[in-house]
Parts: sequence; C-alpha cells; structure tokens
Amino acid sequence: MRTLAWSEHFALGHERIDREHRRLLELSARIESAAEKAASIEDILPLCRDFFRLLVSHCFYEEQLLRKLPRDRFGNHVDEHCRGHARLIHQAQAMMTGQLPTGYDSLPAFLNAYFELMHDLLVDDTELVGSLIREGYHRLGTPEMPPEWLPSGRGASPV
Ligand SMILES: [Fe+2]
Ligand SMILES: [Fe+2]
Repeated sequence: MRTLAWSEHFALGHERIDREHRRLLELSARIESAAEKAASIEDILPLCRDFFRLLVSHCFYEEQLLRKLPRDRFGNHVDEHCRGHARLIHQAQAMMTGQLPTGYDSLPAFLNAYFELMHDLLVDDTELVGSLIREGYHRLGTPEMPPEWLPSGRGASPV
C-alpha cells in the first residue's frame, strides 16, 4: 500500500495550513496501516472519525482563503480544487457510515485511490496556497486591499 509521509516539499510557510496538512498525512498513514490488519471498516472508524473532523474544518478554512484570490486569474483553478475537497469529504462521509463508496470492492483499493487523490490535492495546494501567500491574501480578516466591488467609500482607507 502507498504510504504518504510529510516532507518539506509540502511546507508552504502558512502555520495553520502546514500544521493541518502534516496532521492529515499522519492520520492517513495510521489509517492505512490499521487497515492492513482490519477485518472490516468498523475497525478503523475511530481513526477515520478524527481524520474526517480535521479534513472538514481544514477544507472549510482553506476554501475561505482561496476564495480571496482574484477570480479572473484563479477562479477556475480554485473551483476545481474545491470540487476535489468536496469529493474527499463526500467519500469520507460514506466511509463513516461503514460503507465503501460505490465503485470500490475492497478497503485497500478504496484507501489507495482515496489517499492518492488527497496527495494530488496537497500538491495542488502548494501551487494555490503559494499564490495566496505571494498575493498577500493568506490571512482571514480584513483584506490588505479593498475588493473592487466594494461601494466607493466603504473600502477606502482613512486619511
Ligand atoms: Fe489543504
Ligand atoms: Fe486543498
């Protein structure tokens, strides 16, 4: 089975995102190794629950940040990335009910495909979150520049 490990390659320089990516990879490696000895999905559900909770809050937070990127240059990429998040969450949700998502006939086959998708999204994060940091949108709260759609006056800086 494919084992994913944290590497500096994934470090983006965003404290919360890096910490959560690292934790998601740790949990996925634990799920993979537990699954090798598991008789059924039920045996790995407690680990999956921890993973799922973190995955949902991580994706929610990351998407709030990614939506700040200018739509004209990043919109399609961000939308596609968020669809990947939704797929991960949807499949994990199915697993939490003790079912293999449709299209998979064994737990190892499913986990292989699942963590491969997660790996691809992490690589994509390095590009998108990297842009976020370069463009100065990496903190939630007041944007450094007022968005163009703000009615005049509201976004203007006090003089
Ligand atoms: Fe992420
Ligand atoms: Fe992501």
